[in-house]
Amino acid sequence: MALHSHPSPNAPTPIDFDSIKNLTIFESKAIDQLIVNELSSDVVLINQMGHYIVGNGGKRLRPMLLLLAAKALGGVDSKHLIMAAVIEFIHTATLLHDDVVDESDLRRGKESANAVWGNAASVLVGDYLYSRAFEMMVRTGNMRVMEILSKTTTAIAEGEVLQLLNCNNPETTEAKYLEVIARKTAILFSAATRLSAVIAGASLETEENLARYGQHLGIAFQLIDDALDYTATTEELGKNLGDDLAEGKPTLPLIYAIQNGTESEAGIIIDAIKNGNRDAFNEVYTVVQRTQAIAYTEQRANEEAQKAIDALSVLPDSEYKDALTLLAKFSVQRNY
Ligand code: IPE
Ligand code: IPE
Ligand code: MG
Ligand code: MG
Repeated sequence: MALHSHPSPNAPTPIDFDSIKNLTIFESKAIDQLIVNELSSDVVLINQMGHYIVGNGGKRLRPMLLLLAAKALGGVDSKHLIMAAVIEFIHTATLLHDDVVDESDLRRGKESANAVWGNAASVLVGDYLYSRAFEMMVRTGNMRVMEILSKTTTAIAEGEVLQLLNCNNPETTEAKYLEVIARKTAILFSAATRLSAVIAGASLETEENLARYGQHLGIAFQLIDDALDYTATTEELGKNLGDDLAEGKPTLPLIYAIQNGTESEAGIIIDAIKNGNRDAFNEVYTVVQRTQAIAYTEQRANEEAQKAIDALSVLPDSEYKDALTLLAKFSVQRNY
């Protein structure tokens, strides 16, 4: 329809993700190679599953942020490359575990590893990836790096457990939800950009600001992820919609809809959270739209992205700094 093909006058300019990607294309290839080399094990199933999930790609956003921050600070060191691979390993490990916990059967447009090989294999290979990441990290011999990464993985685990405690609880507040996403998602983004500064030997002020950038971007990223679980298309997202609802996850779209719906609308959402029922998707979606809960979630994500961008003011002007600004916006505007 014509209405859909013409963006409204105040629609944001679409972000050219590929041209941002091109700024780190050579280093990204080196990281891909590193990932493939480090994945190898003489245990066949580890190789198979590792290559399956890594071969399915993903946006590789965290390594990209680490590299762009490094370039904005003057250049990419070999330790940056190792750290970027380590961060992507940790990310991949969390996805393997997450799909088991969330009972998700589609990831990156293909059957998830747990759907193909089962839960036990996914948990064990996720553990393998975590351990590999730590092995690589130790090779850097840098105590600060080890401290940051170990604190990060602890916080991710805490975030996942906190989220588990909130599941099926319709009384979960926005503040509690934000605490979960800060830990389970944002901290890894924050570690990526912080490590970039640490390896570059940047000042503590720069390190803290880059960490702040990653943290706010990560929150924006997860806010949008939680909106996309209701609004995306499966083809674009590469994941099934409604996975959060099926788990009874009280994400911001639902929390806001409960607070702003009529009594009967709130009741629909409360029941759906309590029961964790995918069949209620259409009914829930109607309430989410009617209460403008998605618009609110996007507005919150925009605020976080703006805070991320503000933190970049410590960096000297460069095309890399501009790319970091655009990636904060991409985290909100994305549909995959
Ligand atoms: C998915 O992360 C998990 C969340 C934190 C929402 P990504 O959307 O970065 O996953 P890939 O790596 O691109 O598949
Ligand atoms: C992000 O949460 C999971 C991690 C941080 C590991 P989700 O459960 O929303 O992520 P997706 O939607 O499955 O990628
Ligand atoms: Mg999930
Ligand atoms: Mg999700």
